[in-house]
Amino acid sequence: MPRTRPAALRFYGCSNVVVTGIIIQNSPKAHLKFDNCAAVQVSGITVSSPGDSPNTDGIHLQNSQNVVINSSDIACGDDCISIQTGSSAVFIHHVNCGPGHGFSIGGLGKDKTKACVSNITVQDSTLQNTTTGVRIKTWQGGSGSVQGIMFSNIQVSDVKTPIMIDQFYCDKRKCRNHTAAVAISGVSYQSIKGTYSYKPVHFACSDSVPCTGVSLSAIELNPSPEKKHFYGPYCWETYGELRTNTTPPIDCIQPDKRIPSYDSC
Ligand SMILES: *[C@@H]1O[C@H](CO)[C@@H](O)[C@H](O)[C@H]1NC(C)=O
Ligand SMILES: *[C@@H]1O[C@H](CO)[C@@H](O)[C@H](O)[C@H]1NC(C)=O
Ligand SMILES: *[C@@H]1O[C@H](CO)[C@@H](O)[C@H](O)[C@H]1NC(C)=O
Ligand SMILES: *[C@@H]1O[C@H](CO)[C@@H](O)[C@H](O)[C@H]1NC(C)=O
Repeated sequence: MPRTRPAALRFYGCSNVVVTGIIIQNSPKAHLKFDNCAAVQVSGITVSSPGDSPNTDGIHLQNSQNVVINSSDIACGDDCISIQTGSSAVFIHHVNCGPGHGFSIGGLGKDKTKACVSNITVQDSTLQNTTTGVRIKTWQGGSGSVQGIMFSNIQVSDVKTPIMIDQFYCDKRKCRNHTAAVAISGVSYQSIKGTYSYKPVHFACSDSVPCTGVSLSAIELNPSPEKKHFYGPYCWETYGELRTNTTPPIDCIQPDKRIPSYDSC
């Protein structure tokens, strides 16, 4: 019953919510979900589900503002934390993720919808054995923007692709091409360190709405010792700057060329 599987615990239209000290295990879908909420504090929670349980996000945020999530352990089969449209002022720190699909903003802009996400910080956190580390994913054809994103002091261990922006996100085999896209700007990666098992950095941005203001510093990503097949960093239409040397060298970022103008959100 994929469409009727419920979240284990869902808050809708709530403000001043505190969730602390609970364990949620084997949810049929998202473990903990907030829609249309404001002033949310989540701390000291444990989410525990197998890495192959489908669509089991750890914490799912939608249309929620002023959210702090800290000091929690999340193991699940989808995004450890999923940040969806309408979310802003979200601060995530001291969270351990894995297995799972990492910390994700999106998928945004599905079916030509407008999406707005701003001011998201993920810091002082770790990921082990996840498919991605810190990720922004948008569907082709959407509008709106993702702005003011900071990923800082993230330790990864055996993560397939630690750093990813994908403006061609598609969970089917093939999606139609569109020129419109959710604009991504002002994304900063500081001190992302550890090991990857597939590709250290993957930035696939839209031809018509490139990613701008992407800045990286103190990136140190090395191949996992046991794995054999690796790819180098990949960038497409990605503009910004390297503030320090990086391991491996990420020379595919192009210098920022212009200040783009975006749909207001
Ligand atoms: C990594 O996660 C996968 C998928 O959940 C699991 O099968 C595998 O045992 C995990 N590996 C380690 C080293 O934890
Ligand atoms: C996490 O948040 C809780 C509740 O706000 C706070 O008591 C705790 O000190 C925080 N932990 C860290 C490591 O900041
Ligand atoms: C995001 O942060 C900027 C700079 O601090 C602030 O001006 C803006 O109002 C914030 N936007 C939202 C939606 O929180
Ligand atoms: C979309 O564009 C890409 C790149 O030009 C192309 O390889 C792909 O076949 C196109 N997909 C469809 C469904 O038209």
